[in-house]
Amino acid sequence: MALPFRKPPAAPPTWVAEKIWRGIESTGTDAFLAAWAPHLRIERWGSTLRAIATRPNPNPMDLDEHFLNPPPGFPWKAEEVIWQVEGEKSSTHLFGQGSTTEVRELHLRYGIDLSPDSASGLFPDQRENRALLLARRPGSLLNLFAHTCAFGLAVAAGGGTSLNIDTSARALERGRENFRRNRFQDRDHRFWKEDVRKALPRLVRRGETFSAIVLDPPTFAHGGRGNAFRMEKELDSMLSACFQLLAPRGALLVSINESNTRAGELERRIRSHLQEREIQARLEPSRRPPEVPEIRMPTGIWVFRED
Ligand SMILES: C[S@@+](CC[C@H](N)C(=O)[O-])C[C@H]1O[C@@H](n2cnc3c(N)ncnc32)[C@H](O)[C@@H]1O
Repeated sequence: MALPFRKPPAAPPTWVAEKIWRGIESTGTDAFLAAWAPHLRIERWGSTLRAIATRPNPNPMDLDEHFLNPPPGFPWKAEEVIWQVEGEKSSTHLFGQGSTTEVRELHLRYGIDLSPDSASGLFPDQRENRALLLARRPGSLLNLFAHTCAFGLAVAAGGGTSLNIDTSARALERGRENFRRNRFQDRDHRFWKEDVRKALPRLVRRGETFSAIVLDPPTFAHGGRGNAFRMEKELDSMLSACFQLLAPRGALLVSINESNTRAGELERRIRSHLQEREIQARLEPSRRPPEVPEIRMPTGIWVFRED
């Protein structure tokens, strides 16, 4: 791939080792972090490579023409290359065209939008957690802050049902499309466009239980006047509801996208809820894909009920 670059000032990206790359592909996955450099993240989305720069960032026209090329002899070549700067509303196609595509993760298919003003539609750093869920084959999943329902798909693949809750109608519609893309029956899956804070007490009142729950809230979200969502403020009441909804032998994943939340602090809070409700459980750190450096991961804990 020859790009219209001139000078070579920036440090070249570090690419995922070839062995790891092949290992990821062997799981039926073609969406993952491909390489990184200071202030730069390079993602593979199927046949597309997307470089996302944070400020201060190099101007793509100032880079060496081979800057975004994988190392010589690498087993893959991009058909499209997109350059984006975080927070900006436009992007540059350095090679190829088109901003929507379909990718595979763990043999499941996902619609992806790489426009700069859109969420891509998949968080590849959660792949190993989805793999764990897929392997456990829970009968039912409560997917809180479901976004495009990726965790729901992992449960559907094992024959389970899912209840996917998110305030974004657009994200849920993309989720429904993902279910159709994989030919999963709509009737086994529920999609609630609702605030998780309202849905949880209702589910508790109804006495529903789930064999798996994913609690993956944002740090902050606008929620209309006086109703903003702040994870720190809401976490304990959400954990309390989740432990009432988690069936015996069930599994709960709590994932926090906040740099200030340390695993130790999250574990302490989870243990105090378990103690209060006299639930026996085993805790494990959430799973990290081999290509994602520790510091780029959310803080996450799996809770496996043992009673
Ligand atoms: C980080 S994403 C979740 C990612 C998702 N778990 C996945 O694996 O794809 C956060 C989601 O929370 C949703 N959201 C924000 N506030 C919410 C609320 N109060 N109730 C329900 N959903 C909310 C957003 O619309 C967004 O889709």
